Amino acid sequence: MRMRKKSNLETRMTQHPDYLLLNEIGFFDGKYTGVTEKKEIKKFDLRQVFGNDNPVYLEIGCGKGGFAVQFAQQNPNINILALEVISNVIIVGMEKAEELKIPNLKFINCRAEHLTTYFEDAVFDRIFLNFSCPYPKNTYANRRLTAPAFLDVYKKVLKRGCEIHQKTDNQKLFEFSIENLSEAGFILKNVSLDLHNSKFEGNIVTEYEQKFVSQGLPIYRLEAQYK
Ligand SMILES: C[S@@+](CC[C@H](N)C(=O)[O-])C[C@H]1O[C@@H](n2cnc3c(N)ncnc32)[C@H](O)[C@@H]1O
Repeated sequence: MRMRKKSNLETRMTQHPDYLLLNEIGFFDGKYTGVTEKKEIKKFDLRQVFGNDNPVYLEIGCGKGGFAVQFAQQNPNINILALEVISNVIIVGMEKAEELKIPNLKFINCRAEHLTTYFEDAVFDRIFLNFSCPYPKNTYANRRLTAPAFLDVYKKVLKRGCEIHQKTDNQKLFEFSIENLSEAGFILKNVSLDLHNSKFEGNIVTEYEQKFVSQGLPIYRLEAQYK
């Protein structure tokens, strides 16, 4: 079911400049605003963004940001950037981060497809893919966040030796991910077919995960290292 558009969304999106990455073109709902063909897009300097040299983890498709908020609170020496295309949900995370004054968490309202436009190569120390949309129809397979074109993007922005951590309830998406990650040269580690009945410790349960677990569905998880 589609979520009703939040009241004053446009205004609210502008009220958290310390939490939302904005550059000269601005972001809104993943679309460029006011960009002209010729305008050069300045890439973000993550050291400047966070004000330190700590590792930066990226969560792609963060939804309402519950995972990123908890992760940032539990890991004050790691910076986390939460990326989401839909303003109507990312706003929830931004408002929470502001309310809790979390210094090591920032948000970016754009599409994963645009990561290389906004970031230099090899800037992220980890990528989280939590319950990415499965796009079950084969005709939409290229929209899945572990489709080959996305893995090419991740290989650019991820540092060598660093990892992608994925969780999903969707067996087909998990199989698709394993196949593509292996094909792209990632080394798979700690693969679990039932995370909640495994020995894995310290799992942060996301909004979607909560929903799926309460329906009795197993959660699949993997780590993929970019060698
Ligand atoms: C099923 S939700 C999961 C939200 C959250 N990670 C969780 O586990 O509760 C997937 C999210 O990914 C976002 N998304 C899908 N494709 C995206 C893309 N290409 N770039 C950025 N976000 C995307 C969707 O808008 C949606 O909010």
